Amino acid sequence: MHATTPLPDEKAAAYDQLEVSLRALLDGERDLIANAANLAALLYWSLPQLNWAGVYLVEPVKGDLLLGPFQGKPACVRIPVGRGVCGTAAARRATVVVTDVHAFPGHIACDSASNSEIVVPVLRGDRLIGVLDLDSPVPGRFDSEDAAGLEQLVRVFVESLSE
Ligand code: SME
Repeated sequence: MHATTPLPDEKAAAYDQLEVSLRALLDGERDLIANAANLAALLYWSLPQLNWAGVYLVEPVKGDLLLGPFQGKPACVRIPVGRGVCGTAAARRATVVVTDVHAFPGHIACDSASNSEIVVPVLRGDRLIGVLDLDSPVPGRFDSEDAAGLEQLVRVFVESLSE
């Protein structure tokens, strides 16, 4: 069983603590779906002010982003690369922080409660394997510290797949 400990208020310290938890959760397991499921659950149940946390995985036939393990309300299943916030992060291979999703051209609304969003690409070497997506009902919930912290956690997730 995994017990979630309260996180420090300071974001960098909170992400460091989450990294320790994530390493413990993923230890000894290489399966993509199992580890993505625990990444999503850890973030959703640890970070404040989220209404959705999960991954979309690149499906090999069409190359779309396909809904993977998540926590939150049911979500859009397939997102073409280049569409929405997820597809934009995938196309750019760079983290996208959106302070107001209603002002983002092409934003795909899965849960009407979402007001801000962050999407981090998941790269295994040079290959894009998916994106990590977090939504919040709070406008401007995510900043560059969240981007750095989540990128740190995505690196741990990707490492776990090869260990
Ligand atoms: N808002 C995302 C779609 C995924 S949901 O937020 C879970 C987007 O614009 O790509």
